[in-house]
Amino acid sequence: MSSEKWGKAIFLLLSLFCSDASGAFVGINIGSHSTSLPAAEDVVAILKAHQFTHVRLFDADRRMLNALANTGIEVMVGVANEEVLGIGESPSVAATWINKNVGSYLPATNITAIAVGSEVLSTIPHVASVLVPAMSYLHRALVASNLNFQVKISSPQSMDVISRSFPPSTATFNSTWNSTIYQFLQFLKNTGSFYMLNVYPYYGYVSGDGIFPIEYALFQQLSPTKQIVDPNTVFPYTSMFDAMVDAAYYSMGALNFSGIPIIVTESGWPWLGGVNEPDATVENAETYNNNLIRRVLNNTGPPGQPSLPVSTYIYELFNEDKRRGPISEKNWGMFYTNGTAVYTLSLTSLDTGNSSSRVFCIAKHGADLKSLEAGLDWACGQGKANCLAIQVGRPCYEPDTLQNHASFAYNDYYHRTKSSGGTCDFGGTAMITSVDPSHGACVFTGSLRSDMSGISTPFSAFGPVSTESARGTTLQVPEVAVLIPVILVMFQIFSRSI
Ligand SMILES: *[C@@H]1O[C@H](CO)[C@@H](O)[C@H](O)[C@H]1NC(C)=O
Ligand SMILES: *[C@@H]1O[C@H](CO)[C@@H](O)[C@H](O)[C@H]1NC(C)=O
Ligand SMILES: *[C@@H]1O[C@H](CO)[C@@H](O)[C@H](O)[C@H]1NC(C)=O
Ligand SMILES: *[C@@H]1O[C@H](CO)[C@@H](O)[C@H](O)[C@H]1NC(C)=O
Ligand SMILES: *[C@@H]1O[C@H](CO)[C@@H](O)[C@H](O)[C@H]1NC(C)=O
Ligand SMILES: *[C@@H]1O[C@H](CO)[C@@H](O)[C@H](O)[C@H]1NC(C)=O
Ligand SMILES: *[C@@H]1O[C@H](CO)[C@@H](O)[C@H](O)[C@H]1NC(C)=O
Repeated sequence: MSSEKWGKAIFLLLSLFCSDASGAFVGINIGSHSTSLPAAEDVVAILKAHQFTHVRLFDADRRMLNALANTGIEVMVGVANEEVLGIGESPSVAATWINKNVGSYLPATNITAIAVGSEVLSTIPHVASVLVPAMSYLHRALVASNLNFQVKISSPQSMDVISRSFPPSTATFNSTWNSTIYQFLQFLKNTGSFYMLNVYPYYGYVSGDGIFPIEYALFQQLSPTKQIVDPNTVFPYTSMFDAMVDAAYYSMGALNFSGIPIIVTESGWPWLGGVNEPDATVENAETYNNNLIRRVLNNTGPPGQPSLPVSTYIYELFNEDKRRGPISEKNWGMFYTNGTAVYTLSLTSLDTGNSSSRVFCIAKHGADLKSLEAGLDWACGQGKANCLAIQVGRPCYEPDTLQNHASFAYNDYYHRTKSSGGTCDFGGTAMITSVDPSHGACVFTGSLRSDMSGISTPFSAFGPVSTESARGTTLQVPEVAVLIPVILVMFQIFSRSI
């Protein structure tokens, strides 16, 4: 490489590395409708034991916020639905709220986001007109305390505000909320915040009443005859989760908003239900949440926004026996209050398993070749990865592709440096996978097949919350009537290509 080329490569690397330093995270919701919640210190001990890094509280519970101090856990606090009206009508109420519930805990408790209400548009429609004013007043108070760069404000929305969510490319917001949603998006755009979305394939699947294959809801492989394809974009949707997230992106697009990232504030699956709720089982909950974690840590976006990873807060830490509604409503918790997991969570350190928590950093399929080459050069050079194994004649030289060589180098770099902050990014050309890429005599760093000890701690984070708030139980599914023709279209596409 000439020095001029080097100069370019280095510039490219620098700019790429700066653009997306952080991967997607998995956080956790902590609801508080339980008769016997452990003490806040015990809740935090459970979070730490399972290496959660992000937690969402539905309120600003004093004991939880104190217990979360100096833990490194990032906290999303909540304005309860009942508080939104008062805040939206009074800047001084907003300022008091910020001082009391945010200002007085920072920086020891790392509050990074405020969720204003919980599905408030669909649960208390008359609050719509004050939602954005409430957010603006809270933001103004943050600015006054110079906290606005540290703390983002948004408001979790249910899929109910989207009137037709399938096919995703034709999704739009329900026009009932046109002006509210427009102001809402304008606020998010102006303040560099994100769209908070609650995504419940469980409700989608159940209310679909047999229309959707359960595999589609559980992120499992769909049979070749049941692929689900958006007829306009021809994007295949391998999960309902991805389709719902994309529907929200396309709905924003229909109002000409782009570049507002989505964070999924709730997603999960109940593990126990009544006789008429046969899909609320431990097995399905285990499958859903494990696949959800894998999906999120894969660090990609949905088909329509592949470069925007979807950080997600799982719903939820503990069961909430005081919730009203069907039996399933009370049984979303992943842990008993004694800290024991209800079912195995394999991709994370949530169990003490070591093999199961192994992750690898590999080159993305289809990554730009020039960027891959630059990433490979950097990893083997400045990054000090051990690249011996990919030299001619060595075990990992074959297949002789940039994809393979970069994967080996990226992964070696990542395993050597992650404990000191190294990331799996390489200008967006790298991704985390739980699938061991070792093949034949080629053993990737961190593989169980290697003898390296002590490598590889899990990658993700989870977090808690504390009080109230309602999760809508009426999550709307992609409209069934629309889906059927789509499946038919897909059939046509497939049969034509055969
Ligand atoms: C709080 O979280 C932010 C975002 O990850 C991070 O940049 C910051 O260093 C954290 N602050 C503390 C005190 O841990
Ligand atoms: C839009 O929301 C209103 C109010 O909730 C509801 O009555 C209407 O059915 C919704 N429209 C669609 C197309 O979902
Ligand atoms: C809402 O916005 C959409 C898209 O701009 C538009 O087609 C629709 O007429 C609007 N509805 C109302 C009630 O303003
Ligand atoms: C979005 O932008 C397009 C092109 O500028 C314009 O034709 C359309 O009316 C806009 N739609 C809305 C809802 O503002
Ligand atoms: C990551 O997710 C995308 C989109 O769902 C999928 O196409 C891809 O196969 C996934 N990769 C891994 C390694 O899971
Ligand atoms: C925790 O509680 C669950 C449910 O009550 C029980 O099955 C489990 O044995 C308990 N675990 C421990 C370690 O006590
Ligand atoms: C963890 O790794 C050790 C050593 O490789 C092994 O003996 C042990 O069985 C593993 N534990 C689990 C839960 O996989």
